Order: sequence, then structure tokens, then C-alpha cells
Amino acid sequence: MPPVAESSLQVKADFPIFKRRFGGRELVYLDSAATSQKPEVVIEALAEHLRKHNANIHRGVYPLAQEADAAYDGARRRVAEFTGAEPETTIFTKNVTEAINLVAYAWGRANVHRGDAVLITQMEHHANIVPWQILCREREATLRYLEIDEHGEISLDALQAELARGDVALVAFAHVSNVLGTINPVAEMAARARAAGAVSLIDGAQAVPQMPVDVEAIGADFYAWTGHKALGPTGVGVLHGRRELLDSMEPFLAGGDMISSVDFQSATWNELPAKFEAGTPMIAEAVGLGAAVEYLAGLGMERVRAHERELTAYLLERLSQLSGVRPVGPPEADRRGGLVSFTVEGMHPHDVAELVGRSGVCIRAGHHCAQPLMRCLGVGATARASVGVYSQPADIDALIEALAAGREIFGL
Ligand SMILES: Cc1ncc(COP(=O)(O)O)c(C=O)c1O
Repeated sequence: MPPVAESSLQVKADFPIFKRRFGGRELVYLDSAATSQKPEVVIEALAEHLRKHNANIHRGVYPLAQEADAAYDGARRRVAEFTGAEPETTIFTKNVTEAINLVAYAWGRANVHRGDAVLITQMEHHANIVPWQILCREREATLRYLEIDEHGEISLDALQAELARGDVALVAFAHVSNVLGTINPVAEMAARARAAGAVSLIDGAQAVPQMPVDVEAIGADFYAWTGHKALGPTGVGVLHGRRELLDSMEPFLAGGDMISSVDFQSATWNELPAKFEAGTPMIAEAVGLGAAVEYLAGLGMERVRAHERELTAYLLERLSQLSGVRPVGPPEADRRGGLVSFTVEGMHPHDVAELVGRSGVCIRAGHHCAQPLMRCLGVGATARASVGVYSQPADIDALIEALAAGREIFGL
């Protein structure tokens, strides 16, 4: 029997996509780590904004434009409150990828020098690798990696040893790995980086949707995340930054709205956060994200975490009942977020995903934008099942059933 605990959420009915049928079957969506489904309140907030309040922002003096201003600024306040940050230091970006690139360009190019090192971990998404590769190449700096152990975790002693070398300008790491599920001790890592004089950046793409995140309490210099994984629309991400650093940085992109004044040969920069939001931003999407975090806050992030932890424990347990299935990452659900990547002996991960897909079960297969990590794990790809607030034990049962049937087809 699937577990039914008090913390369980029953919110599938809030998400209209689950009314769809695929070949007569219900949608079993276990790909929330790639992108989450959207509740009606988010879809409605987005549509309502476009229907009733659409105007460009920070320009118009007429009432409709003031409504659009209020909607955008209100969304920023909601998002900042949700993550324990200040609105002025909460910058809307296109996604987490752009947020990390913003730091790599606007902070990195001025502060990483020849002979410095940028330290990341072996479990990073390409979004938290490639910007540092480019920066290090340009600045003649070195990119170094903290190794993961057999459970997909990093060691604080190893971090300390790296920092003790005295050349680390920046440490960048995921809060929750999108492949291993590992929850990193981010507050401790940020504190150690700070003590060693290094700046820290956390990729919170997989953390913000599923656990309480208080960026002030974590104490990192930069904390980046992406709206579409947190029940929000695509096209909007967030960068929280330490005020002194954001103040000291040059802009990332230049154009309208990010300036205070422009002369023929020069310009001065606007206040935070506008300094980092050049051009017309993703207004309706930000409004949608505001509705998304309000919905999540209404569920309660402690409850969301408990729900996803339980489902992950159940997923690990059910997968362990299938021979030849090897999950990667920490063995206990307490130490991991709501996803499990796994391999199936004798089957390519793409075949696994395709076969279960025929039963209406959506999982991901591939390198999950983490090719260096795949190399560390000694595989080319994995299958990955990931849960969201709407997921239920029955979704996991459907996956296991489809997996068992698929293995039979393959004669395993
Ligand atoms: C840990 C992590 N970082 C970064 C990203 C990139 O997110 P986006 O494509 O929204 O920028 C992802 C998305 O898969 C992720 O899981």
C-alpha cells in the first residue's frame, strides 16, 4: 500500500493539465525537475494581467500604466518575501541560466583575475559550468571542481582544503542537484567561502520549488533560481544578490530602464534592481511568478518539503524492488530532493523513458545538462523521475508498473 501521511498534499485538481488524457490514460507527470506544471491561479494571473492590466512599465503616467507598474513591482515584493530577500536586491532575469551569466559577466569580469580560481562541484548543471569556463578562459583563471563521493555528496573538508589554497575568487554550487538529488549544506558552504574571502553563488533552481529557502539565512552572495520549475511561467528567473556587490557591479545588459541618464557619449546607471533589468522585462510572466509563490506559500513550504520527501522515499523503495535498477545519489530521502535518477541494466535510459511514456508516464532520460557528472558516474545518461506538489504515490506505482512491463518486453 502506498503511504498516506498527514503531510500529504492533494492538489492535483488545482492543475488543469491533469484533465488531459493520453491514449485514454491519465497523465502521470514525473518530470517536474525539468519544468513544473502550472496551477490554474498562475494561468489565470497571467491571462488576467494581459486581459486587463497590460501596458509597459516604468514609463506611463496614465492609470493603466500605473496598474501594470503596481502588478510588476508587487510581483517582485511577493517573490522577495517568499525567499527572505529584499525587493531591491531581487532581480528578474529570463531564467537561472541568465542569472548566473549576469554574475559571470558583471561581477566575474571585474573581479576574477589572472591566477585566480573559480571553484564549482562535479554535480553542476551546464548553466553553472559553462559561464565559468568562458570566464576563466578569458581571465586566465583556473576552473576547479569539488569531487563527489560514491553517494553523490561533497565533503566540507575538501571545500576547506580548496579554499585554503588562497586563490579562490568564487565558489558556485547547486543547492539541490538535478541529477543526484543531493541537498548541499549551502549555508555552511557559503559561510566557509566568505571566511576565506571568496564570493559564493548558489544555483537554487531545484531547491526553491520544493523546500523553504531563506536567502538571508543562507548567507550566500548570490542566489539564483528559475520560475518555471516553481509553478511559474517560463521566461522569468530570479537573481538575489548582496547589495554591496550589486552596487559595485557594472550592468550586464544595457539599454532602456537600466539608466539614470544618457548623454551623447556616456550614461549613468539606475538604482537597484532596475540597473540589471535592461529593456522591457517579462511583465506578465513576473506577475505569474508572483501568483506561483503565493500559491506555494499558501501550501506551506515545510509541507511541500515533507510531501516530496515522502514521495521520494517511496520512489526509492519501489525502485529498489526491481532487480537491475540502480538509483544514483544519496541513499536516504532525508538527504535528497524530490527526484531519483537511475539506470536499468540492459536498457538504454532513452528506451526506458520511451517505454514508460507509452503508458502515459512522463520521465526524463539523457545527460540532464550535466555531462561532466555523467562522466563521474561512468554512464552516458540516466533515466530520471521527479515529483512535484501535485504528485501522488499512485504516480510512482504507475511508473513502477510501466517499468516492470518494459523490462519484460526487453526480456530482462
Ligand atoms: C540545477 C539546475 N540549474 C540550472 C538549470 C537551468 O534552468 P533554466 O533552463 O531555467 O535556466 C536547471 C534546469 O534544468 C537545473 O536543474
